[in-house]
Amino acid sequence: MARVVVTRPINPRAAGLMEGHEVWTWPENRTMPRGLLLERIADADGALVMLTDRVDDEFLEAGGRLAVVSQMAVGVDNIDLDACTRRGIPVGHTPDVLTETTADMAWALLAAAARRIPEGRDYVLGGHWQEWDPDLLLGSDLWGTTLGIVGMGRIGAAVARRAAGFSMRVVYNSRSPKHEVEEETGAVYAEFEELLARADHVVVTAAYTPETHHLIDRAALARMKPTATLVNIARGPLVDPHALHRALQSGVIGAAALDVTEPEPIPADHELLSLPNCLVIPHLGSASRGTRLAMATRAVENLLAGLAGSQVPWCANPSVYSQDG
Ligand code: DGY
Repeated sequence: MARVVVTRPINPRAAGLMEGHEVWTWPENRTMPRGLLLERIADADGALVMLTDRVDDEFLEAGGRLAVVSQMAVGVDNIDLDACTRRGIPVGHTPDVLTETTADMAWALLAAAARRIPEGRDYVLGGHWQEWDPDLLLGSDLWGTTLGIVGMGRIGAAVARRAAGFSMRVVYNSRSPKHEVEEETGAVYAEFEELLARADHVVVTAAYTPETHHLIDRAALARMKPTATLVNIARGPLVDPHALHRALQSGVIGAAALDVTEPEPIPADHELLSLPNCLVIPHLGSASRGTRLAMATRAVENLLAGLAGSQVPWCANPSVYSQDG
């Protein structure tokens, strides 16, 4: 029987799979206090963590017995993978199961921002709707336009597949060309600057790394079309929030929709939230009931494999299995 710490309540169906182990779950729907986490992790063999938990040297030193860390998310920018690998600890994550749900949300955000749905809702709720007006809240078309996708991983490809339904052309940028996606979707590779200039709408799906910090900065925004919509469905720090505020306020781009922000959560008095052409939602990309169950299940499967000494099936640091010793 292994000892497991789970840093947030997870779906009971997924939690049930850990029967037979001694599982302690932080019972509250908020991030587990750091001090308590470091205390609890001290005699744990496995940890099932969230993207709001920092897994760094301090965490790993406190959890000296840990055989596996399993994250209930695909992104692992909160985890020092090198530090885990150095200690021989495999890190599980949850790719694939959230791809389509997150791509759906990217499109929901794109349509909402480009067609000004939140402004329309506020208009109705504010009691301003007197009659049909041919000039009211005119937005930008999606159909027949060019979609730019920054980062062509699983989610980028799923976003690209949906573009056909809107008769859109797709240009994309990623570390290397993705020929399979090109064949499947007709997407065309473009240099980053060219993509920004050509796209009518830009969706950011790239992974967050030190190299992609503030990838969408003032210079990038200046290259975009004044009617363009920017969607960030990946990680907040990919976009410079102050540059975005200036660009939205001064008409450098048309609108933005952010599922993720810097900082996260974004304070209610943040300058971006005062702009009618900026839609912000609280990191809901994968937040469907079915997908969150699938993510929790995958996270538990990874954890159980690590505890059993088997290869973690969805491993974010596979080099942990090939290093010497
Ligand atoms: C992830 O999995 O990385 C998302 O951001 C949360 O679903």
